[in-house]
Amino acid sequence: MKRMLISGGTSTIGKAAVRHFVHNGWHVWFGYDTAREKAEALEEEFGPSAVAFRLNVRDNGSISEAVRSIDDLDLLINNSGIFSSFLTEALTDEEVGRIFDVNVTGLFRLTKAVLPKLKEGGSIINIASLNAFMPTFGSTTHYDASKGAVVAYTRSLAAELAPKIRVNALAPGLVAAPYLDETSDIRRIFEERSVLKRMVTAEEVAHALYFMAENTALTGAVIPLDCGYTTG
Ligand SMILES: NC(=O)c1ccc[n+]([C@@H]2O[C@H](COP(=O)([O-])OP(=O)(O)OC[C@H]3O[C@@H](n4cnc5c(N)ncnc54)[C@H](OP(=O)(O)O)[C@@H]3O)[C@@H](O)[C@H]2O)c1
Repeated sequence: MKRMLISGGTSTIGKAAVRHFVHNGWHVWFGYDTAREKAEALEEEFGPSAVAFRLNVRDNGSISEAVRSIDDLDLLINNSGIFSSFLTEALTDEEVGRIFDVNVTGLFRLTKAVLPKLKEGGSIINIASLNAFMPTFGSTTHYDASKGAVVAYTRSLAAELAPKIRVNALAPGLVAAPYLDETSDIRRIFEERSVLKRMVTAEEVAHALYFMAENTALTGAVIPLDCGYTTG
């Protein structure tokens, strides 16, 4: 049985990934930071193949405690990430630091801690964003720059860890979630500009992650999954 760890396992994308990998016979350890109840519900839904633990990527103590309880891994998915929206004139050092601490440094921290547990032939997938490549909704320079860093980190780490470990990134467009209802401005902007005229589903993201985990020729790749937003 293959084994993986995903951070932010109760998020929109995380939940779909846990579900997809468990259904395909993997054992999944998934981290939550604040969403303990959601994590417990997911454990109940999936049974013994899905195990939750507290994992705050801003805290090395939390990371080492979580990683201590896992065995050898085939896959790490760095999925945890936070988002906010500020015009440059209102953006503080603290807010830039908060976003980078989770979206970039958090990924360095978790990867470093997990690396000794990753089996030869295993892989790492980082969740970037289409925002790494082009502006989307405005007022997100700090988030966009953090995801640009994820792309550069992915390519550089792929070169460093080859041929033992593959490293790739997925760059999703806007992912459908209950809060993105008909009245959502960002949904309207995304759907107007994407050539498929719709959002990405979390299941489509999970499916792409599975392909990236299983395809042994893939490394240093950053795959856009954005309904053609970046081609439109
Ligand atoms: N949704 C989209 O449209 C979209 C598009 C492109 C890229 N992405 C990226 O995809 C990833 C997942 O996005 P999402 O929308 O599914 O997430 P989400 O629903 O907004 O949830 C954020 C996730 O990150 C976790 N998290 C936040 N701070 C953390 C910390 N300090 N340590 C560990 N975990 C932490 C949260 O855990 P708790 O809830 O337990 O606190 C939660 O699981 C993110 O990296 C995001 O930037 C999302």
